Amino acid sequence: MRASVAFNRRLSPTYFHLGIAAPGFPPTFRAGEFVMLRPSWVGDPLLPRAFSIYRVSGGGSDPGSAAAAAPVVEILYKTVGKGTQYLSRVGPGDEAEILGPLGNAFRAPAGTTTAVLVAGGIGVPPISALATQLGTGHRAQGRWQAERAGTPETVPTPHPPSPRLEVFLGGRTSEDILCAGDFEAAGGSVHVVTEDGSLGSRGLVTDLVQPFLARQVASATQVYACGPAGMLEAVGRLAEALEIPCQLSLEANMACGFGACMGCAVPVRGPEPRYKLCCKDGPVFEASEVAWG
Ligand SMILES: Cc1cc2nc3c(=O)[nH]c(=O)nc-3n(C[C@H](O)[C@H](O)[C@H](O)COP(=O)(O)OP(=O)(O)OC[C@H]3O[C@@H](n4cnc5c(N)ncnc54)[C@H](O)[C@@H]3O)c2cc1C
Ligand code: FES
Repeated sequence: MRASVAFNRRLSPTYFHLGIAAPGFPPTFRAGEFVMLRPSWVGDPLLPRAFSIYRVSGGGSDPGSAAAAAPVVEILYKTVGKGTQYLSRVGPGDEAEILGPLGNAFRAPAGTTTAVLVAGGIGVPPISALATQLGTGHRAQGRWQAERAGTPETVPTPHPPSPRLEVFLGGRTSEDILCAGDFEAAGGSVHVVTEDGSLGSRGLVTDLVQPFLARQVASATQVYACGPAGMLEAVGRLAEALEIPCQLSLEANMACGFGACMGCAVPVRGPEPRYKLCCKDGPVFEASEVAWG
């Protein structure tokens, strides 16, 4: 899909917030879905890169153009190599190619009263999107109750109440802690931990998650996580040990994003070695199905 850059804001030396005006892109998405993105003037690297959808907002940057009415797909990214360094240099009006929404999404099982959201560094965009989407139930319920007290004929269909949101954000330094305000706006309690102690408590995010999970009622709790592979494995193992269901958004090198190249295999458990495709079967997997190396 041909698209154009609406904005590209530097948040810190290595983190950016990018908006892509994409005519024809659906105005809504499910948290966990991703896009394949490539600035169209770039010849090397040729392949698009995968990014989680952080938000989709309305309207482009250039009033009067087709892009002005187009949904803006927002992503947060960190510069780690050639592709993301190219991206950091694009500006409003530059052309891009975007494909999506792709992949599966986080699920919100009925009966969950506590959602434990864990994000490490640039793993935060899909977790922030999830908090916003889970938090909507809470606000809708509040509106329903308020309107019920007023004029009964305007009462909309009741929405199930959202779970309590307990958010754990981890990073190496304070620069890696993003979106804390989004979680607060969604009604979440935010716990921050950095390895150097520059923000929140000092240590690893699992240092806080482990004792918290140990105090929860397993059947009413759901863990959601996205971040570096080591963090995901640690969170997945913790949740499994406590028999708490846990969904992990995994990363793999992706060339196509829709199941054609077979390049994004994720080992899963079974009597024999088996693989699933991160792009098509994921990126969200139950922790209990992932075969850790
Ligand atoms: C489903 C999915 C969702 C993703 N969502 C996001 C997102 O929202 N924001 C975001 O910034 N990234 C996200 N990523 C990761 C992103 O795709 C990679 O960072 C990107 O492909 C790197 O491209 P590059 O050309 O800059 O680096 P490359 O040249 O491909 O890699 C350069 C070096 O960086 C290493 N590297 C690659 N990715 C990472 C990484 N994530 N962290 C640390 N080192 C890395 C490589 O191993 C290599 O050594 C996602 C990946 C997947 C699969
Ligand atoms: S990225 Fe091509 S099959 Fe998954």
